[in-house]
Amino acid sequence: RRTAILISSRGSNMGALLAAAADPAYPAEIALVLSNRADAAGLALAAEAGIDTAVVESRRFGRDRAGFEAAMEEVLGARGIELIALAGFMRVLTEGFTARWSGRMLNIHPSLLPAFPGLDTHARALAAGVRLHGCTVHLVTPGVDEGPIVAQAAVPVLPDDTEDVLAARVLAEEHRLYPDALRWLAAGQLRLEQGRVQLDNAP
Ligand code: GRF
Repeated sequence: RRTAILISSRGSNMGALLAAAADPAYPAEIALVLSNRADAAGLALAAEAGIDTAVVESRRFGRDRAGFEAAMEEVLGARGIELIALAGFMRVLTEGFTARWSGRMLNIHPSLLPAFPGLDTHARALAAGVRLHGCTVHLVTPGVDEGPIVAQAAVPVLPDDTEDVLAARVLAEEHRLYPDALRWLAAGQLRLEQGRVQLDNAP
């Protein structure tokens, strides 16, 4: 299925998804990388990989979130996009946009949700003294980082961890987890039951 990856900066999760999708048997085709910032480093990586890229600068729209999203919808529609993977996309989406892409849009978040939604998750995990931390892929709903959980991976928090060391340990798991989750979505293996995600076996 034709998939767009939405990014705002580095794009390492995007890179992991591109690597997975290079396999012809992978059910998601990355047809577009869309950034809300022209200076996102991930755009160059995507272009190098031969992927179609686009920029819709959120800055130009100020507080007009609906206008920004309408401009994105135009780009997505023109490419026949069916699925979206948010990968370090730093704009909050409106209820309208999330409703239109309901069940078809994933996000990766660097914590074991529902712990630590929002920003600065690694610093907050260290401050809280949790012994386990990790990452979550979830379906996107209007509440930020609140959608049904698709997959999680946990890592230990070690006594000498700094924010950067912990972030790197989590990021390695993100790169493993996200390609699996997108594969399940694209292959039609995810089913919502009473608001929770069920994973069906591969057909
Ligand atoms: C990742 O930690 C992701 O979980 C979070 O933002 C970061 C993006 O990193 N949403 P990258 O752009 O994928 O390298």
